[in-house]
Amino acid sequence: VFNEAPRLQFVFLELVGPDGRPVSLGPPRRQTDSATIVLADVPGPLGPGDYELRWKAAAADGHPTQGTLTFRVLAGVTDSARAPPRTDTLALRDSTTAPVASVDETGFTVNSGPYTFVRWFGYVSLALLSGILFFRMIVIARVRRDPTLDVFGAELEARLRPIARLTALSVLAAMLAHLTAQSAVMQRTMPSAAGSAAALLLEDPWWRGALLAQFAGVAAALAATTTTGWRAGDVMLGLGAVLAAMGPALTGHAAASPNAALAVGLDVVHVLASGAWLGGVLCMGLVAIPRAKRLPGTDRARAAVTLLRSFTPLALSGAGVLALTGLYAAWIHVGSFGALLAGDYGRVLVLKLAVVASMATLGALNWRYFGPRVGEASELLTLRRSTRLELTFGLLVLLVTAILTALPTPVGGP
Ligand code: HEM
Repeated sequence: VFNEAPRLQFVFLELVGPDGRPVSLGPPRRQTDSATIVLADVPGPLGPGDYELRWKAAAADGHPTQGTLTFRVLAGVTDSARAPPRTDTLALRDSTTAPVASVDETGFTVNSGPYTFVRWFGYVSLALLSGILFFRMIVIARVRRDPTLDVFGAELEARLRPIARLTALSVLAAMLAHLTAQSAVMQRTMPSAAGSAAALLLEDPWWRGALLAQFAGVAAALAATTTTGWRAGDVMLGLGAVLAAMGPALTGHAAASPNAALAVGLDVVHVLASGAWLGGVLCMGLVAIPRAKRLPGTDRARAAVTLLRSFTPLALSGAGVLALTGLYAAWIHVGSFGALLAGDYGRVLVLKLAVVASMATLGALNWRYFGPRVGEASELLTLRRSTRLELTFGLLVLLVTAILTALPTPVGGP
């Protein structure tokens, strides 16, 4: 019995008999009434003696784990077990004799630097993709409603278009890098999957769904950058952002939790909301504020005030949705306050909350202090610096998140 539903494609079993020779087993299958119980048929009766069952498995989030289970078949019991049916079913139950270890402790692992970077890069790309969508729909739309700022708004729109194209391509690159990294981890830790780890991942419906959704999302986002109509572009970019955001949700802890549909749905919302806040800050810091600085005096003040007035509600709503959906995820993955400080997952989550709090403080400072003063050129410069700092904290939040999502959860186990 596993504490998280393992993916059958990623379950490998080896039964070693009393003579040290392998005993053939049927393919692993699920018990009909439970996703966490894996069964394997023993084709024929077992002779008396000590047996060792070595298993390796991975859940939907791709964390490989392994363990052994030893048991003894007694002579008398074997005789009675010889009665038909002649196929014994071995129910794999984690027992006291089965120390469970995470198999990937050295070399290239789900927790190693390069793999963490791949996840971080994916999160940044997704945040920017949905950030561009919200920025276009809410901030630029409001700027363009002011006739004196229409040209400025059109300029922002034109500058965001190639950035959106590049971002869609980075989502694609991050997705392929994720597949490659996960295949490499599986290949190394599950030797029986040698030569076919990527194929195994593609056989898994969650991974297949994630890849298909991200491919479709990237295609929709790229198509959005070629359309000239506002509405059509927004709808396609929106579709692209939602589909792309399904990638991490379908291959992470959310997919492995008992109420997967709700957890995955809220995870997608969490990732989209990270775009509303952090992606919006990226658009402000990298494109909007530098362009506003170049405008002549009165236009600059007007543009800066309009930008801030339209961005503030977007950032605040994003932060609110992030907090609600994040707390839900924390609740289902951590389970209790005690578990928060007891293990790595809880401790990294607390670190994430500390960085989120710093980001929120800077955001509040931009909103309450610099916001009302942005008309002055020097204050615009200060706002730009403070926005960049907020951005740095935001990127740090995503880095801590990339570490967090590769750790075993207290509720789900390894
Ligand atoms: C109160 C604030 C927040 C809380 C409680 C929170 C909590 C969480 C939790 C528990 C997860 C699930 C990790 C897992 O799958 O194991 C998560 C994922 C994530 N969070 Fe947050 N978070 C918060 C704020 C933020 C912010 C401000 C950002 C970005 C700016 C962010 C971005 C993300 C991303 C990108 C994921 C990854 C989703 C995935 O891999 O499926 N979060 N968060």
